[in-house]
Amino acid sequence: MIQTVRQASSLRGTVSLPADKSISHRSALLSALGEGTSRIQNFPDSADPQSTLDCVRGLGIAAERDEEGVLEVEGRGLNGLRPPSAPLDCGNSGTTMRLLSGILAGQRFGSVLSGDDSLQQRPMERIADPLTAMGARISLQDGHAPIRIRATQSGLDPIEYRLPVASAQVKSCVLLAGLFAEGKTVVIEPTPSRDHTERMLGLPVEEVGGVRHLIVEQGHTIPSTEWTVPGDFSGAAFFLVAGSLVPDSELRLKGVGLNPSRTALLEVLDGMGANITVENERVKGAEPVGDITVRSAVLSGVDVGGRLVPNLIDEIPVLAVAAACAEGTTEIRDAEELRVKETDRLHAMAENLNALGAEVQEREDGLIIEGNGPNLLGTTVRSFDDHRIAMAMGVAGLVAHGSTTINDAECAKVSFPGFWTEMDRVASH
Ligand code: S3P
Repeated sequence: MIQTVRQASSLRGTVSLPADKSISHRSALLSALGEGTSRIQNFPDSADPQSTLDCVRGLGIAAERDEEGVLEVEGRGLNGLRPPSAPLDCGNSGTTMRLLSGILAGQRFGSVLSGDDSLQQRPMERIADPLTAMGARISLQDGHAPIRIRATQSGLDPIEYRLPVASAQVKSCVLLAGLFAEGKTVVIEPTPSRDHTERMLGLPVEEVGGVRHLIVEQGHTIPSTEWTVPGDFSGAAFFLVAGSLVPDSELRLKGVGLNPSRTALLEVLDGMGANITVENERVKGAEPVGDITVRSAVLSGVDVGGRLVPNLIDEIPVLAVAAACAEGTTEIRDAEELRVKETDRLHAMAENLNALGAEVQEREDGLIIEGNGPNLLGTTVRSFDDHRIAMAMGVAGLVAHGSTTINDAECAKVSFPGFWTEMDRVASH
């Protein structure tokens, strides 16, 4: 699908957001391992969470929506999964593949996890290494999927694992494998990443010398429960930037997940001079949520790096658009993980923004962006088949003169199926 976006004169209205992708994956997986039927309110139709749901069904778990659209998952307990009859297709979803590998490493049956071309190029040693240290029998193909996991006859060995990379997917993989280990598994997290898994599992967290130690004990069971998935902050991010950049804008985003390990973009946009207010903060289940209003503002350049990066890792493509339209220079550092996402996001954003006339230099671990907003000129850009690149370039298209054409834009459905419709609905030209 080719999407054309015209320069907008204003954005106004209430944006309907999809449910949070990270929390959706975890709610489906934990429900499958739970004791009895769990209900998930607001489980999305986005392709990535649907990949998790398909895999869960492939493991013998019944999961259907009731007449109100609530997803009912019939958990069969930690040892109730059934051998899959075919390879489990994780689609485009790294979270599905890495979290599910942690669960499958501890099973008494073998399994194979595969994915699309993008997923089969992403690094998987980062999970195979700790799982192998726990006694799992895993093989990769040149460090990549398909991942073959052989049955374990005895449980896994517990480990103490210091994360070499700030990754919630790796952390969650080891914690989930820890549910099947004979003893106490400890994950040491030098740089904090999103904490949904430990929250949703209710795991003890100890701070040792300022470093988080996450603990999962043998015998940790998961009760059946009712999850409510909040609106996706990472989806909201596109509209927070768009509403800031397009003149005469006022957008409202309701029921957005505000987990502090996800919302560093708010801090960064605030430092750039954005006009964003958060109201009606409340807690839903294990997660804080609130309503956000964004109004147009003049943004200035900013430096972003260090411990903030994992807490806005998925928002950096759209932050680069904000920076390209801000006054002054922005430097993004310590973001080398972006090179191993659904595509190399540093390269993709540099190429696309430069095609619009921005001044972006690619660094090994980040980008240097000279703000050049008023001069962006619409042209044709590529999504690189990456949902966040497609949507970030959609935001750039609202600001650039003329019209911007985004090739292969349907990939937005991976996390935000209604994105193009919502953007169209709130834009005036
Ligand atoms: C996710 C973690 C992040 C993020 C991804 C979702 C998760 O990846 O980029 O979109 O749900 O755990 P890493 O933890 O590998 O950085």
